[in-house]
Amino acid sequence: MATALIILAAGQGTRMNSDLPKVLHRLAGAPLLHHAMRAAEALEPERTIIVVGHGGDAVRRAALAFDENAETVTQTEQRGTGHAVAQALLALGGFTGRVIVLFGDTPFITLETLEKLANSQADVTVLGFHTDSKPQRYGRLVVENGKLTRIVEFKDASPAEQAITLINSGVLACDAALLNELIGALGNDNASGEYYLTDIVGIAHSRGYSVVAETCAEAETLGIDSRQNLADAEKVFQARARAEALENGVTLHDPDTVYFAFDTAIGRDATIGPNVVFGPGVTVESGAEIRAFCHLEGCHISRGATVGPFARLRPGAELAEDCHVGNFVEIKNTILDEGVKVGHLTYLGDAHIGEFSNIGAGTVTCNYDGVSKHRTEIGARVFIGSDTMLVAPVTIGDGAMTASGSVITEDVPTEALALGRAPQVNKPGLARKLFEKFKADKRKRQKESE
Ligand code: UD1
Repeated sequence: MATALIILAAGQGTRMNSDLPKVLHRLAGAPLLHHAMRAAEALEPERTIIVVGHGGDAVRRAALAFDENAETVTQTEQRGTGHAVAQALLALGGFTGRVIVLFGDTPFITLETLEKLANSQADVTVLGFHTDSKPQRYGRLVVENGKLTRIVEFKDASPAEQAITLINSGVLACDAALLNELIGALGNDNASGEYYLTDIVGIAHSRGYSVVAETCAEAETLGIDSRQNLADAEKVFQARARAEALENGVTLHDPDTVYFAFDTAIGRDATIGPNVVFGPGVTVESGAEIRAFCHLEGCHISRGATVGPFARLRPGAELAEDCHVGNFVEIKNTILDEGVKVGHLTYLGDAHIGEFSNIGAGTVTCNYDGVSKHRTEIGARVFIGSDTMLVAPVTIGDGAMTASGSVITEDVPTEALALGRAPQVNKPGLARKLFEKFKADKRKRQKESE
């Protein structure tokens, strides 16, 4: 059966105490909205409609950044989850099939659970979870004589209903035409004066439709309402990512200090030292080693390469096999071919380094003139002497060498030695004379101050 997903993301998220719309807060390096969209995408639905409202332009942009064909509708006034779904149904037009409603702030929902909802035979299927933690705010699933008869919001619940331990996750599935009918019957006579999506359960039951509750683990429907929830969700994500990495044959010297992004991909037999942070877009091939205190984002590390300790790889850094990047090295938008060594204290930006070249300590590609970025091209088997400033745009030919301390402003031909520094002059005995003068000056100053 055809499936459409509706992702609700119009709420303000007041408890986040933030100027940023709630669904744009990041978990594991990606906005919450992207986690929901990724979960939805995995189900391969015919349509996905995202309901935006608070901070709508920014949320729409984020949706389009994830998927340039993302469909959004605007809920101008946030009048409740039922009202939000009504806006999405208008956009779905005459869609026939099953509709699943998800929240943009519930990042951990799994494909298995969504499939259960998509394949459920009931007219309305609600996703709930069992808990003894008595969560406030969450709705309670009221089961009478073995049947789910209605959902009552915490605010509207009697003490007996508040004590119910089967909780509404907020996710539900329903046939599109029936959902239209049920949403049309919603009222807003409740504690919040909102159109509650949850009320469709009671209406469906009273009209004789079949309504069932599927359940999942509480952690799967963890919603983010506050900074504390966000921090808790990050902890959950990291714990899972660490366990998965270990399971996949990655060595983590101190797992609790390694932070992964939502898309970090690490090959078997790679080794990750303590205090390593992965931003989005990092792939590390089998057998590579990332030593302690490195920060990596948007980069690729090939087999046999070693990085760190204390290295920073920024977007566009690509290390081919057996490269070595050492301490206090920053690399951005730069390709290192096989066997390149950049041992210490170096910045490489907007560059290409040919195979087996060695970049000496203190080298800087001066890639920015205050207005534009320029490229540095370094050939194969080049030796860049320590403390070389490569003023881009500049090209260094294969097998060339630059003298330490050089400022290279012109291209260097293949196999040439480039010396870009003032010639050295030695003045015999002058150091001794200067020391004597300095000491005499100091004595004089001390006497004067007595
Ligand atoms: C909702 C459920 C509650 C459930 C809980 C689980 C209702 C009435 N209640 O409550 O039973 O236990 O989720 O987290 O559905 N939104 C809109 N437009 C609106 C209102 C909300 O798009 O007008 C979006 C929000 O951005 C959010 C989602 O809907 O993504 C849930 O809204 P929220 O106000 O957080 O619902 P809860 O009160 O938590």
